[in-house]
Amino acid sequence: MTGPASWMRACFQKTSAASNGMASQPHAYGATANAVAPAEIHVQVQAATKIFTPGDGRPPVHALGPVSFDLRKGEFFSVVGPSGCGKSTLLDLVAGLSRPSDGEIHFEGARVDGEVPDGVAIVFQEDASFPWLNVFDNAAFGARRNGLPENEVRERVDHALAFMGLADFARAYPAQLSGGMRQRVCIARVMVLRPRLMLLDEPFGALDQQTRLLMGEETLKLWRETGSTIMLITHSIDEAVLLSDRIGTMSARPGTFIDVVETGWSRDRGSETTMDPHYGVLQSQIWQMLRGESLKALGAQQ
Ligand SMILES: Nc1ncnc2c1ncn2[C@@H]1O[C@H](COP(=O)(O)OP(=O)(O)O)[C@@H](O)[C@H]1O
Ligand SMILES: [Mg+2]
Repeated sequence: MTGPASWMRACFQKTSAASNGMASQPHAYGATANAVAPAEIHVQVQAATKIFTPGDGRPPVHALGPVSFDLRKGEFFSVVGPSGCGKSTLLDLVAGLSRPSDGEIHFEGARVDGEVPDGVAIVFQEDASFPWLNVFDNAAFGARRNGLPENEVRERVDHALAFMGLADFARAYPAQLSGGMRQRVCIARVMVLRPRLMLLDEPFGALDQQTRLLMGEETLKLWRETGSTIMLITHSIDEAVLLSDRIGTMSARPGTFIDVVETGWSRDRGSETTMDPHYGVLQSQIWQMLRGESLKALGAQQ
């Protein structure tokens, strides 16, 4: 994704969505299993279902749900599940990039309905940097587009680039950077907008393992600094266990939550968490939940 149009999808501008209006049954895993005080709820997903109707004679695809859960204000929530189980579909619904076939989503008490709400930012796996803009202008793009005064843009971009370790590369172009650095540019662009909810769809999926670990640490720093709520979609159990307050484990398609696991980590966690005996326990607990679902997903592809 390189052009402005794709960036609009990649980085949270208002986008219309289609609805296919199909109905579904309520799901057993609901608000009761995941209940918190109403004041703490940032996002509420109620029996959300997505059924894609291709409209070209092919059968409908029941991709997701019904799924119900809450995101608590300021938490780091990860979703792990087998390939094709509906993780990106869920993120698109929460983002307002797509409408549920049935069920409802609320962000800060208002219904999400086919538009990305103000205060919500999205980072995708794809490198969404603009090759014709330098790092500074890439990071400033969204804020300028939103009409923020230039002195405020400069202040925010300088801070974001310093925070992401990109200050020395402000005048460089994406082609001169590694894949990890380009993805940092995209995260800096999101940071400049100071979103209250960040939705990350496998943002480090294309990176090598070491860079991925470092980017995970950067994301934790960003989360602490901004106080944003984060929902991270990942297929990596390790990443989910290291980074999250809570982890939702998803079944094979149509994805529903098998369980939501609390890690119990402190807010100032980092890579040393991997040495904690509880880290291995959580990894194995989540793998036990997902193993059968991954086999099912594998079978469905064969
Ligand atoms: N626009 C679409 N039309 C039809 N099927 C789709 C569409 N988007 C996704 N799907 C299907 O929905 C299922 C879930 O997709 P997705 O949410 O991308 O999975 P994940 O992100 O967990 O890998 C997959 O079977 C996928 O092929
Ligand atoms: Mg996906």
